[in-house]
Amino acid sequence: MYYRELGRQDMITFKVLKGAVVGSMPRRSWWKPVSTNEMQFFSQIWTHFQGCFTTNGQLIGAAGLFLNPAECAHDAYAVGLDPETTAIIGHCMVLSSFRGRGISLKLVDALMLRAQMTTEKKDLLLPTSPDNLAMVRCAKKLGMKTVPYDPDHPPKTIYFKFPL
Ligand SMILES: CC(C)(COP(=O)(O)OP(=O)(O)OC[C@H]1O[C@@H](n2cnc3c(N)ncnc32)[C@H](O)[C@@H]1OP(=O)(O)O)[C@@H](O)C(=O)NCCC(=O)NCCS
Repeated sequence: MYYRELGRQDMITFKVLKGAVVGSMPRRSWWKPVSTNEMQFFSQIWTHFQGCFTTNGQLIGAAGLFLNPAECAHDAYAVGLDPETTAIIGHCMVLSSFRGRGISLKLVDALMLRAQMTTEKKDLLLPTSPDNLAMVRCAKKLGMKTVPYDPDHPPKTIYFKFPL
């Protein structure tokens, strides 16, 4: 397996991967939609996507770093942050037959490093559902901290935060 940043040339394989993952989600509520048009996904000023490929070139995993303040606004305001200085990690997905091998950990880790290279961003958020245990464990293992919430009344989306 190898990892690299995705570009416009990966658009079709990216859509195939996303279709396969979203189409087989254990719970549809786990998927957090974004407002960014997919055509802007690989524009450097909007997003960075990291991909994982098999040695024969099949895209089997991807995750995105969303930088545009308009995209970040909803989640940033939800936890009292400024969208201009907040980046979001989302669209984390691994084909089901390749799960449990640490791929999401490597994808998210690479995007955290990428976010640290930005100058205008101060906080990184990773929104997820509280019962999406793989995503929760991934965020915790990479040192992100949960924005506090009432465990007796968990919201549909919880936020992991990482200062940049
Ligand atoms: C969430 C997802 C990307 C995780 O990808 P993955 O490559 O299988 O995850 P990893 O192998 O890197 O595992 C990350 C951590 O989660 C744990 N984990 C993996 N699958 C798990 C599961 N089904 N239940 C509980 N924990 C799990 C791993 O053990 C690891 O923690 P550890 O290192 O402390 O043991 C993948 O399950 C997926 O694509 N899910 C559907 C899409 C989705 O829900 N995306 C999130 C939208 S916010």
